[in-house]
Amino acid sequence: MTTRTLPPHDVTDLGLAAEGVRRIEWAEREMPVLRLIRERFARERPLAGIRIGACLHVTTETANLMRTLQAGGAEVVLAASNPLSTKDDVAAALVAEYGIAVHARRGEDRDTYYAHLNAVADGHPQLTMDDGCDLVSLLHSERPAQLGEVLAGTEETTTGVIRLKAMAADGALRFPVVAVNEALTKHLFDNRYGTGQSTVDGILRATNLLLAGRNVVVAGYGWVGRGIASRMHGMGSHVAVVEVDPVRALEALMDGYAVMTAAEAAPWGELFVTATGNINVFRREHFAAMRDGAVMANSGHFDAELDLPALREMAEGHVREVRDNVEEFDLGGKRVHLVAEGRLVNLGAAEGHPAAVMDMSFANQALSAEYAVAHHAELEPRVYVVPEAIDAEVARLKLAAMGITLDPMTPEQIAYVASWQHGT
Ligand SMILES: NC(=O)c1ccc[n+]([C@@H]2O[C@H](COP(=O)([O-])OP(=O)(O)OC[C@H]3O[C@@H](n4cnc5c(N)ncnc54)[C@H](O)[C@@H]3O)[C@@H](O)[C@H]2O)c1
Repeated sequence: MTTRTLPPHDVTDLGLAAEGVRRIEWAEREMPVLRLIRERFARERPLAGIRIGACLHVTTETANLMRTLQAGGAEVVLAASNPLSTKDDVAAALVAEYGIAVHARRGEDRDTYYAHLNAVADGHPQLTMDDGCDLVSLLHSERPAQLGEVLAGTEETTTGVIRLKAMAADGALRFPVVAVNEALTKHLFDNRYGTGQSTVDGILRATNLLLAGRNVVVAGYGWVGRGIASRMHGMGSHVAVVEVDPVRALEALMDGYAVMTAAEAAPWGELFVTATGNINVFRREHFAAMRDGAVMANSGHFDAELDLPALREMAEGHVREVRDNVEEFDLGGKRVHLVAEGRLVNLGAAEGHPAAVMDMSFANQALSAEYAVAHHAELEPRVYVVPEAIDAEVARLKLAAMGITLDPMTPEQIAYVASWQHGT
């Protein structure tokens, strides 16, 4: 038997590696675009010698992204972007089978979460890859001496992009970041169809509720909220949307949903799902008005969309776990339930997005990493959208992988759409 030196790591159980490998390979079958990129990266090595610090959900799909970056020549250190989203078998497999440094344990406490993030920073990343901006925030707030080493970064999610834009507006951001979330081939599919399906999946795995005929309240009608509302509707639920933006509210109404205030929705709803990227969307007065048996879950990035401190206070210690991933809060005469501690339910109680959709998101990540390494010298310390050419390439490769071809425009059509002389 040969003994290999393992990379630095802190994972729950290396004995889970074999199961992790099986699941990573299963996901890989649904990720043809990333596979093509990995094959090219292995030939061209565009990330040769680049140290990448990644703070992402440690899932089977992320494992395939890490393998792609490694094939491109990068040295990667990975920590979780949420304490509850780590799949321990995947973390083990990455360390034991693929030689990637991972610091992530499912259910880690806040101190461990930040210790793991610091372990990534200890790797002196030249490229940061974030999902929620925690690594970029840590480097800027606590490790400014390292900022000069960072060439660029990439950011996966809406909440992270909002934080980065706030940093850039304050003049605080010190290196360029490519906002992967802003690629059309990311948010139109990942946020909408990926989160839509996997949020339903997480809620069902945790609760086994019947969705048909149930009153479901979706807070936030952005890309994520639209996906959740349409999937809940497809399962036969009555859906009401809570919004603060009039255009989005109007869109929800014309898509066929009821639109209510949080106060109106509280006694009406039986299942509440938040996806706003904002804080305290449902709070004390709403919990007080909810029905006995109401269930709450969150699919937004942080566990701050429900006012959990208020909920705990109202329950006065009468909190118990009634199923895996479901806590019951006894509010004196009525019980309300919280799924996955109010953290992203699709990752906390299920497996996150299906691999087929992460294929596109992570293809954008890999190509944006390549772009950032090649072009960092020309970029300023601000937030950049993913170049259109990358977006188009991801869509083209995905369609090709699905065996779908498109009509090219005829020369006559090309001339027509480029001209201004033709009218009625
Ligand atoms: N669970 C996941 O896997 C996953 C995937 C992608 C994005 N996200 C996260 O989901 C959240 C939403 O992302 P998105 O892309 O839909 O963002 P978005 O900006 O497109 O939509 C958010 C919507 O919430 C609305 N909103 C804000 N405050 C509100 C309030 N108090 N009450 C009701 N509505 C309110 C906004 O008007 C907006 O329409 C973000 O935190 C994002 O990071 C999670």
